[in-house]
Amino acid sequence: MKRILVTGGAGFIGSNFIQYMLETYPDLQVINLDKLTYAGNLENLRAVERDSRYSFFQGDIADRQVVMELLSRKKVDAIVNFAAETHVDRSILRPDDFLKTDIFGVFALLEAARHFSIARFVQISTDEVYGPIPEGAASEASPLAPSSPYSASKGGADLLCHAYFVTYNVPVVVTRAANNYGPYQYPEKFIPLFITNALEDKPLPLYGDGRQVREWLYVTDHCRAIDRVLREGRPGEIYNIGGYSEEQNRVIAETIVELCKKSPELITFVEDRPGHDVRYALDSSKIKALGWEPRVSLEEGLAKTVAWYKKNKDWWKKIKEADFKNYYTAQYGKRLQKKGPGNGGEPGNTPSRS
Ligand code: NAD
Ligand code: DAU
Repeated sequence: MKRILVTGGAGFIGSNFIQYMLETYPDLQVINLDKLTYAGNLENLRAVERDSRYSFFQGDIADRQVVMELLSRKKVDAIVNFAAETHVDRSILRPDDFLKTDIFGVFALLEAARHFSIARFVQISTDEVYGPIPEGAASEASPLAPSSPYSASKGGADLLCHAYFVTYNVPVVVTRAANNYGPYQYPEKFIPLFITNALEDKPLPLYGDGRQVREWLYVTDHCRAIDRVLREGRPGEIYNIGGYSEEQNRVIAETIVELCKKSPELITFVEDRPGHDVRYALDSSKIKALGWEPRVSLEEGLAKTVAWYKKNKDWWKKIKEADFKNYYTAQYGKRLQKKGPGNGGEPGNTPSRS
């Protein structure tokens, strides 16, 4: 594999993936196509921007002309699609762009892959397509039951990928990963929001009773898994990528305040997310059979992540002081005034591990 197109490479996982691939493969060329939405940030790629093996194009994956023109100028061996609207809470406020990018964008990329007979297409999907998993773990054969406009759009794209493999023989592989965390994650997501709010002595808005469970995957472990699937995954197949580290949100919140050396009083229960999935859990034995397993434990990963946000205050302060402020007020303003279960009526607002 000599040249790959990475879409959405200016976001959290995409930028980590580009850095990982350029570090790992000295002869690889990487082209990054990104629209630079609010979540895209070229500062994430400072370390590689002058690397002659890397090039950046600003453009929308849902614009078929943009995608076709780029691929007619640049021959690539593979497409790895990270580009998406990704935040569940934003999809609840305004689903429109989720359908445009996460479904029509994938359609445009699949059409281009078909036209140019691209040798490999990796669609980065999510464990959220399975919906809540109260017990056990979802395998790749589990039914899709997405709860939010975000996960429904991602699920729609997964089905389109399957159809393009079956009907047109486009060599698509789909990965479904658990919740990622690590450096360069936009501070709207749970872990970076809680770390940065804690560092600023602001309340940490914990949804509902905080007992929801997520399976956490450190971002470089995810990058290694995608690389493995890109090279060794079988076309037409789906691969779950879990972190083997399930935890309740309230415990993550407590750990963050401890690591930031702040008071647990900052943890503030607020009104729950509508349609909040109670638990995600993946059976990742299929990708393990390809020889991959996560290397970073949740304990180590959280400590590394807190250290990164402490060291890179300029990166996140710039974001939080710009448009993010409006989003934060729309999402949390009323919720924080009218706190949820655990606050006020119930004893104490500090969660316990029980
Ligand atoms: P992110 O929100 O940090 O970044 C998304 C990137 O896509 C941004 O750079 C943005 O500018 C770009 N983008 C958005 N719309 C675009 C468009 N129409 N055309 C071109 N570029 C566009 O997202 P992330 O957390 O890095 O997630 C990357 C992928 O991984 C997504 O497909 C997401 O569904 C999937 N995923 C994320 C997680 C997670 O926990 N973050 C877990 C599993 C799967
Ligand atoms: O599971 C994979 C998915 O993980 C990805 O596909 C999504 O792109 C990514 O955003 C993430 O979705 P979640 O909804 O699980 O992540 P989020 O960080 O928004 O929330 C994690 C948990 O924390 C969830 O149970 C909701 C809770 N939460 C989140 C926020 C932002 C809070 O309690 N308070 C908050 O302010």
